[in-house]
Amino acid sequence: MGTNQYVMTDRYRQFTESPPGRFLARQLGMPRPASLRRYEPGQPLLAGPALLGAAPGGRLTGAVASVLSAAGAEAHVPKQGEVRDAALEAGLETQVSPPQDDDRRYGAIVFDASGMKSSDQLQSVYEFFHPVMRRFTESGRLLILGTPPASCADAREATAQRALEGFLRSAAKELSGGATGQIVYVDPGGEGNLESTLRFLLSAKSAYVDGQPVFVGAGESAAPVDWERPLDGKVAVVTGASRGIGEAIAEVLARDGAHVVALDVPAQGDALAEVANRVSGEALQLDITSPDAPQELGDHLRERHGGVDIVVHNAGITRDKTLGRMSEDQWASVIAVNLTSQERINDALLSGDVLRRGGRIVSVSSQSGIAGNRGQVNYAASKAGVIGMVHALAPQLAERGSTINAVAPGFIETQMTARMPVVTREAGRRMNSLAQGGQPVDVAETIAWLASPGSGGVNGNVVRVCGQSLLGA
Ligand SMILES: NC(=O)c1ccc[n+]([C@@H]2O[C@H](COP(=O)([O-])OP(=O)(O)OC[C@H]3O[C@@H](n4cnc5c(N)ncnc54)[C@H](O)[C@@H]3O)[C@@H](O)[C@H]2O)c1
Repeated sequence: MGTNQYVMTDRYRQFTESPPGRFLARQLGMPRPASLRRYEPGQPLLAGPALLGAAPGGRLTGAVASVLSAAGAEAHVPKQGEVRDAALEAGLETQVSPPQDDDRRYGAIVFDASGMKSSDQLQSVYEFFHPVMRRFTESGRLLILGTPPASCADAREATAQRALEGFLRSAAKELSGGATGQIVYVDPGGEGNLESTLRFLLSAKSAYVDGQPVFVGAGESAAPVDWERPLDGKVAVVTGASRGIGEAIAEVLARDGAHVVALDVPAQGDALAEVANRVSGEALQLDITSPDAPQELGDHLRERHGGVDIVVHNAGITRDKTLGRMSEDQWASVIAVNLTSQERINDALLSGDVLRRGGRIVSVSSQSGIAGNRGQVNYAASKAGVIGMVHALAPQLAERGSTINAVAPGFIETQMTARMPVVTREAGRRMNSLAQGGQPVDVAETIAWLASPGSGGVNGNVVRVCGQSLLGA
């Protein structure tokens, strides 16, 4: 896979990895960003064995054990009880969990809290994690599974399940060494849809996703034949694909087996052709704000490919100015590129039945759309609008056996962030649990997970790729 030529070096992180740098950072209480484990084809799912636990009556332990077993992972389980039974039934290779003074490290520590019915039972999540919080491998994974509060039988259960999100968001902030934590809320009926989400969140692909709640429902999914190439046979269009995050998305979707139609403005023609060639895809020069763009794109996809399976709305621009100084054109161009074009393209692809059944739409939003940002009323409005669009269209997409989701990147090392003033850039990099910026590939991997045929249960989600940023949390 090609490397993204715009990735900046994080000299501070390099410095803290040297012995004197490590010493100084420790003495001064400065952040010490870890080097994150990132995905390579053929890599084991986990960096070490898994430790499995559950509150009594959990309905998800079996699904977790099956995924770990299919991925060839090894798990440590309690000597007896529901967890051990579920692991044995799933054919998972197990060891009885070691005594507490053992210093074994785990690639993943997973707790099924779906059996929790009231707040007094929260004690069990404390008891499970308390002795093992320092036992993660580098880039280890903390994972809690629960029932979405909105799907709970009564107020007590909903209260306990919602409490878990607060627990998770805080526990994730206490992890070090590049370890991350998430909570996956699974609707009753969604148990069979977990595999693609667990394979993403447990693996190195989710390196820069941290402290996130993810919701999995009962939508229509198709497990990929080969999890190393889950997008085999799929046609994907990626807007803004000539550089930056879009370039990385094109590369990752192609690596996963998709045929990529890389789209960008004519002015980016040379760079676009280079990306399209590299991923053995095709280039489509189009300004997505032009009146005919939705029709042209629809016609292109129908004529060349008989339709499309994956649409990634990545193209975006910034025209930053405080509101009082912002020109009408600065306002209008950002709304047109970042939001209205997505709506118009969706309308054309849906009404013309260009998006096939099992289709996936993924929009790139932004942390600014969640937290707001001084000097970005236009950009934040456009990116919050994208979130509104995803929520509003999700039921309609579900009826077509399809999904629509958004990713909201935080600080990603690209040309855009390289142009920031140095103080703003340093603050952006460090103000998150991982104390570093993400790479374009981190956003791309998240999109590839949402685009997978196995992710039919993930619909209407907004997943931040922000290293658990302090902004808008
Ligand atoms: N870099 C970050 O830290 C960050 C953070 C949050 C969100 N994002 C979002 O991620 C996406 C990609 O950002 P990036 O940093 O790679 O930016 P970038 O400027 O490097 O790339 C954006 C691409 O979109 C294309 N584009 C712009 N207007 C277009 C139009 N009218 N028609 C077709 N293509 C058009 C550009 O030519 C460019 O190739 C954007 O939506 C951005 O808002 C980026």
